[in-house]
Amino acid sequence: MDGLHPLIQFLRQINLKQDEENILNQVSLLVKKFITQPDSWFDDRFYQVDEEQGFGSHLVYENPDHTLAVIVTSWPMGRETPPHDHDTWAVIGCVKGVEKNTLWDRHDDKSDPNYAEISPGIVHICTPGDLITMRKNDIHSVINPESGVSVSLHIYGKHFNHTNRHQFDPIKNTVKPFIVRQEVVA
Ligand SMILES: [Fe+2]
Repeated sequence: MDGLHPLIQFLRQINLKQDEENILNQVSLLVKKFITQPDSWFDDRFYQVDEEQGFGSHLVYENPDHTLAVIVTSWPMGRETPPHDHDTWAVIGCVKGVEKNTLWDRHDDKSDPNYAEISPGIVHICTPGDLITMRKNDIHSVINPESGVSVSLHIYGKHFNHTNRHQFDPIKNTVKPFIVRQEVVA
């Protein structure tokens, strides 16, 4: 996507081997700049959603080793992801509409890979121009609580279909892999 080419060029200059907090700070500055000027890159195709999956995931860029994934995600009203982690850092910038992001607190000792006890914690209402940063093991769920499709720009340390990320069932206390179907933006 031509409009995001400058962002990708800036992102590629960041040292991905440095401390996670430093990376998050640098990526956040860049993402903030682009989400507050969406006219320079936004394309209506980003509104498309995969109805069966419940959201749209548009891959704009990733390095050949799947690091530094740039993904635009779209959410129809009322659809919600399960609680999940990414197994990598993430910067989420809201561009259109509203996303309700719930962070989940984990209470078990993580000794069983198939079991987790989690409960809902802090809620962020993300509106255009807002940023959310997530660390490697943070767990969140996302819902668009309003009418219309919401769209957000996500940068991940590694494409989440190539990490060991998980989805969590807070009722059954189960943990499973979480793979997303994706459209590649030409
Ligand atoms: Fe997520």
